[in-house]
Amino acid sequence: TDQSRLLEEVRRGMIPAHIYNDEEVFQLEKERLFGRAWVFVGHESEIPQPGDYVVRRVLDDSFILSRGEDHQVRAMFNMCLHRGMQVCRAEMGNASHFRCPYHGWSYRNDGRLVGLPFHKEAYGGEAGFRRKSQTLLPAPALDTYNGLIFISLDPDAPPLREYLGDFTFYLDYYTKQSAGGIELRGPQRWRVKANWKIGAENFAGDMYHTPQTHTSVVEIGLFREPKAEKRKDGCTYWAGNGGGTTYKLPPGSFEERLRYVGYPDEMVERMKQTWSAEQRAVVGEDGFMISAASAFPNLSFVHNWPKVEDSDDVLPFISIRTWQPVGPDETEVLSWFAVDAQAPEEFKALSYKAYLMCFGSTGMFEQDDVENWVSLTNTAAGSMARRLLLNSRMGLLEDDSPVVDPLPRERFSGPGSAYVGYGEYNQRHLLRRWADYLEKPVESAATIRVGGDQ
Ligand code: FES
Ligand code: FE
Repeated sequence: TDQSRLLEEVRRGMIPAHIYNDEEVFQLEKERLFGRAWVFVGHESEIPQPGDYVVRRVLDDSFILSRGEDHQVRAMFNMCLHRGMQVCRAEMGNASHFRCPYHGWSYRNDGRLVGLPFHKEAYGGEAGFRRKSQTLLPAPALDTYNGLIFISLDPDAPPLREYLGDFTFYLDYYTKQSAGGIELRGPQRWRVKANWKIGAENFAGDMYHTPQTHTSVVEIGLFREPKAEKRKDGCTYWAGNGGGTTYKLPPGSFEERLRYVGYPDEMVERMKQTWSAEQRAVVGEDGFMISAASAFPNLSFVHNWPKVEDSDDVLPFISIRTWQPVGPDETEVLSWFAVDAQAPEEFKALSYKAYLMCFGSTGMFEQDDVENWVSLTNTAAGSMARRLLLNSRMGLLEDDSPVVDPLPRERFSGPGSAYVGYGEYNQRHLLRRWADYLEKPVESAATIRVGGDQ
């Protein structure tokens, strides 16, 4: 069929241009991809106390992420069991109960239905409607890694660890710089008129756009590593369910390289204690500093080190974001600032400033990027785009062999494969995964009868 032919092209790195703005493709993504994959929704540090909650979505489905009195984190489908009203309308807060605004049914913060106005008069009490054991629908699957909370709409989803695979090795650089883990600020939340895949692909591996798209940021001297010649010495790695880019740093030890990007000694010491020998070797012996990355499908990371104001000092920051699809041509971006929980307060404050300057709704990189992505999305909706197969084969020769060989273990200590220089390796990895999901039909899920036997 037409569809499987196009998915075959995608696997070869030839991208049907219309997938970046197509209602039919979007419906498939909704059902076959976001209906099944593990999706990042928040971090445990956002809800540290019993009763703390945030409301997050997986496409159209709203979930209350809440920490119960038993300290357990739960994700509950934010829909009242009575007439389906959204139970919690605030975005975050602390509550022991949620009361539905429509007729007043109330639920404990672990989801149990505890209050049902006029239970006796309206239903004849328990005989007519069994209130006991009714709960808001739990997310079909929930799991965490380093405090990152993921949910899946598929009750048969593989364990999260298995799904993430060796990408966890790289996740630690962003989310575990000490035993204390990270704390988050935000998220800032905004919408862009662009397809969600473009951002995910860009963060995964587009080292190629930096010298062009971000010329102005380079020109004003915000970075110490602006040169395109330097950028191509970095490597692109992919492992398990995600991949990213790195910068090659000047020679030095593990400690010297982390100091070079602006980490204070005490943080460097904790990283040394927290990371494995291989994790240390990627930075130290191999000399690659982790930069942007994406985990399939729509979770991305940034690690960068811009100059601080007028000085020559640089300061690193970490940001986490999701590209949450709203429609084929619209994405809601949720962007968090992340920092090691044990970092000195002064570092946290300055690092936050560095983040705001570069990313988030005020970030200079953000403005540059989005202009391109909106324009691309617009053009992808036209009928000419349906005739076009874009070439996303950078780094490959005609026979599919790579232009450069993957880095051998002596030069790259991390799992997965890594290539030096420009190449669309990771964009292809992401889209191949995307094709795998889109190809596989979903079985319809079991229905849950409110008030019936569970
Ligand atoms: Fe929630 Fe009626 S819809 S109480
Ligand atoms: Fe960019």
